Amino acid sequence: MRKETNLAVNPLAAVDAIVRRHNINAGATIPILQDIQNTFGFVAPEVLTRISDLTGISESELYSIVTFYAQFRLQPMGKNIISVCHGTACHLAGADKVTETIQYAAGAKPGETSEDGLFTLEKVACLGCCSLAPVVNVNDETHGRVTPDKAQALVKALRDAEQKENSGSKGESRNGQPAV
Ligand code: FES
Repeated sequence: MRKETNLAVNPLAAVDAIVRRHNINAGATIPILQDIQNTFGFVAPEVLTRISDLTGISESELYSIVTFYAQFRLQPMGKNIISVCHGTACHLAGADKVTETIQYAAGAKPGETSEDGLFTLEKVACLGCCSLAPVVNVNDETHGRVTPDKAQALVKALRDAEQKENSGSKGESRNGQPAV
């Protein structure tokens, strides 16, 4: 779970506190990185530099750990998380094509977040509903028998909803009343 800290004020102070909580112990590298990820939602490159300065573990070693374990992310999560199942049934039913379509439509490669921060695309293992293959989860909502056309429509619907949300908030004042 994500912990609330005063990150906006001083993120490096939060990093220092986490490393010190683990007694600046090089053997605690993974727990330190897990705490960083829980706190920030991802592990930023400048955070790796700070951990390296404090612990003496080389940045390249830290980077190889973060990229080796799927639990760690080097970028913040997007507003919408799209997970395409690549288990056997979904793979056979065309998951590659679905992922490719979403990658193009959302502007995010698997494992990455789009530049506009709207989408994070993930390839995941069996989601447990193989009879619906290929399966895509969008923000924890399951979509079955997803064709490339349907995948494109899913991304479009999310973009449309975002636009609507933005135009709606522009027309309102802070208290939710229409702006005059
Ligand atoms: S293989 Fe995709 S849901 Fe099982």
